[in-house]
Amino acid sequence: MLAIPPPFCYPIGDELDKSAISMHNAPMSLAKHRDITDKRYFVRSYAKINLTLDVLGRRSDGYHELATVMQTVDLYDTIRLTATDDGSVRVVCSSPELSHDDNLAVRAAKAVCQRCSIAQGILINLHKRIPVAAGLGGGSSNAAAVLLALQQWWQLPLTSSEMLAIAASLGSDVPFFLTGGLALCEGRGERVTPLAPHWPASMRWLLLVKPAISVSTATVFRNLPASDYTDGSHSYKISTALQAKDELRPEDLHNGLERGTLERYPEVAQAREDMLRAGAARVRLSGSGPTLFAPFSELTQAARTQQQLHAQGYEVYLSCVTYPNTGKVSFYSHGC
Ligand code: C5P
Repeated sequence: MLAIPPPFCYPIGDELDKSAISMHNAPMSLAKHRDITDKRYFVRSYAKINLTLDVLGRRSDGYHELATVMQTVDLYDTIRLTATDDGSVRVVCSSPELSHDDNLAVRAAKAVCQRCSIAQGILINLHKRIPVAAGLGGGSSNAAAVLLALQQWWQLPLTSSEMLAIAASLGSDVPFFLTGGLALCEGRGERVTPLAPHWPASMRWLLLVKPAISVSTATVFRNLPASDYTDGSHSYKISTALQAKDELRPEDLHNGLERGTLERYPEVAQAREDMLRAGAARVRLSGSGPTLFAPFSELTQAARTQQQLHAQGYEVYLSCVTYPNTGKVSFYSHGC
C-alpha cells in the first residue's frame, strides 16, 4: 500500500507567497500541520517530467496501458484555499481561461467534499506558473495538491487507498502527484511505485522548453500507431538503473509519444533542433508534449543554453529535480 505523506504547505498569510511567484526554484519550506480553524491554506503544486514513457498497447476502455518513469521538478504553481460561507467551490486563476468549474482543482475539491459529506464553500486561488497543456502534468498536480491540502487542513479520515481512488477518478497522472518524487507508474498511469530518490549528477540540471503551442493528450494517444508500442523495457530498465545508481545512456530516455508529436507538430520538431543546436546533448519530450527537456551536468552550460533559447523567443525554464515531501535527493556519479 502506498503511504501518502502530508502535503507540502506554506504558513498562512493574506497574500500568495511572493518568492514562490517570482522564482520557480526558491528554497522549499517545511511541511507544516495547519489548525483546522484556519480560514486559509497554502500549498505548492509541482510539475513533472517523464524520463521514459512506454506505451504498451490500447485497452478496451479506450485508454492506453503505460509504463512510465516520472519525476517532479521544482517548477510549481501556488494554490491558496479559503473557506467561504457561500457553500460553493470555485477557482480564480491567474490564467483566466482556467477559472471555470471544470478545472481539475475544483473537481478535486468537490470530490473530497462529496466523499466526506462536507458542505463547505471553498475559494481556490491558483497562481499558474507551470505551462498549461504542456506535458508537465500541471492540472493533475493541482488536483493532487488540493486533495492533499484538504485532507491535511480538515484532518479528514481518508485512507491512502481512498485518496488514490479519488485521485485516479480525476485523471491518470493525479495519483503520482500524491507522492511526487521519482516513481514508476503503470496501468493507465495510476499504479504508482515510488522509487528511491537517486538521480544521476549528469542530469542535475534540466532545461524545459515549451514551444508556443498546446497539445491535446487525447489526440496524440488516439493517433498513435501500434508500431510505436513497446514492451515497457525502457521504463523497467531505467527504474533498475536509477535504483542501482548506474549511469544512464542517451537511448535509455525513451518516449513512445515523441515520434507522433514531432511529426504532427512541426513547432516541436523545430524546438528540438534548436535545443540541440544551442548545446543540449540529449532532448526528450515530456508526456505528450509539447514541452521538451534536456539534462545537463553543469549549471553554466545549462544557463548558457537557456539564454540562447530565450533569445530565440522560447519559453525556457531552468529546473532541477525535487522531492516535495522529503526534500532529499542523492545525486550520484557513475560508479559511486
Ligand atoms: O487520464 P487523463 O484524463 O489525464 O487522460 C487524458 C486523455 O489521454 C484520455 O482521455 C485518453 O484519451 C488519453 N490517455 C490514454 N491512456 C492513458 C492516459 C491518457 O489514452 N494511459
